[in-house]
Amino acid sequence: MTRPLIVAIDGPAGAGKSTVSRELARRLGLPYLDTGALYRALALALGQVPELAGRIDGLVTVDDLSSEDRARAGEIAGALALSFEEGGTRLRLDGRDVSVDIRRPEVGERASRASAIPEVRAALLDLQRDLAARQGAVAEGRDMGSVVFPGADVKFFLTADLTCRARRRGGDLAARGEPAPEYVVEREIAARDQRDSSRAVAPLRQLPDAIAIDSTALDVGQVVERMLIEISRRGSP
Ligand code: DC
Repeated sequence: MTRPLIVAIDGPAGAGKSTVSRELARRLGLPYLDTGALYRALALALGQVPELAGRIDGLVTVDDLSSEDRARAGEIAGALALSFEEGGTRLRLDGRDVSVDIRRPEVGERASRASAIPEVRAALLDLQRDLAARQGAVAEGRDMGSVVFPGADVKFFLTADLTCRARRRGGDLAARGEPAPEYVVEREIAARDQRDSSRAVAPLRQLPDAIAIDSTALDVGQVVERMLIEISRRGSP
């Protein structure tokens, strides 16, 4: 039996990875794996240990976290009871549907800080691979091509300029009834990219074997079409 197809999509916040990945997965008939949702679920679960969550929220760099706190965060990540439903678009944590809660901006911030903890990344690694093992996946995140699926059939690096990403993220927030000024969203996204790209373990970076797509002037359909062409050239769908 041939190994199922794995498409890895990495890129900074607000580049449109989720929308594009979901549509691409649908077109290819593959499961959609949103790994950011796992880090976000961990961020929610950390909220049950307020002192630890508070220390993580206040982190400037992960080096400032004690080894006990790192180990505890890793244990919490390893014990997450998660299940994806409805084609990977809904997520349950301990049986509770957290699909909406994990999208809150402060959850994304904590996810970004917690994701720099090596013990957390180690704890979530096998889970991510297991989720794609049987049926393959369109997997999106920050380290899909570099760490989780280095042997992925096709790797993409999806980006867009900062203003465009801030506008898209601002649109998402407004649609959720939580509008924020564009300059604030832009500042937050820039800080998050800086953190996600500069951490010591599995930083966001553009790999030499990833196909870069700049979605600034493209809509979702155009990005997906481009990806389908690349996949039919390089992959074996
Ligand atoms: O893609 P997202 O905004 O849902 O991800 C939330 C945070 O989780 C992101 O800022 C960094 C972290 N993350 C990660 O470190 N590695 C991944 N594969 C996915 C997300």
